Amino acid sequence: MAEEEKTEPGNDLNRRQFFAKLGLGSLSIAAVGTAAFSYQYLEPNVLYEPSPVVNAGKPDRYPLDSVTLDVNSGIYIIHSQEGYFSLSAVCTHLGCLTAWKPEQGIIACPCHGSKFYAFEQADPGGKDHKPGDKIEGPAPKSLPWKRMWVNDDGDLLVDRSTDIPAMQFVRV
Ligand code: FES
Repeated sequence: MAEEEKTEPGNDLNRRQFFAKLGLGSLSIAAVGTAAFSYQYLEPNVLYEPSPVVNAGKPDRYPLDSVTLDVNSGIYIIHSQEGYFSLSAVCTHLGCLTAWKPEQGIIACPCHGSKFYAFEQADPGGKDHKPGDKIEGPAPKSLPWKRMWVNDDGDLLVDRSTDIPAMQFVRV
């Protein structure tokens, strides 16, 4: 008891200063945390994706009756007798990347065996099929056609995000 009364004024001041600094430090940490959360809250929560438009280059890159897979874009550029067009290369079953099989003249999916026409063709029963139509397999739909056009520089452009009705050829 007697020792408490003997507390020196300097020690008391140091204790007060210590707790004041501790309080200020805590407030500063809280303020920084609040500012960081506020910034995250105010910043738009947007996912920036690459453009869906692909520049496929000059048409003369694609010989007549050729099927060219652009692996990075997941599309085919096809040059048929009727003109140029683009098909999605992504299987409509579970999304595997399909492959052009020149020896069979078809597009095939390596995952579960779906097959698609690349060119206009009649089946053995005489029924005509459009490019992209399913031949067989579990795929529920045909491969969609993608919007294609020629820009001012003469390059073929494809919009991967836009499906179009079949048989819309680009002629250059
Ligand atoms: S993902 Fe192509 S057949 Fe299944």
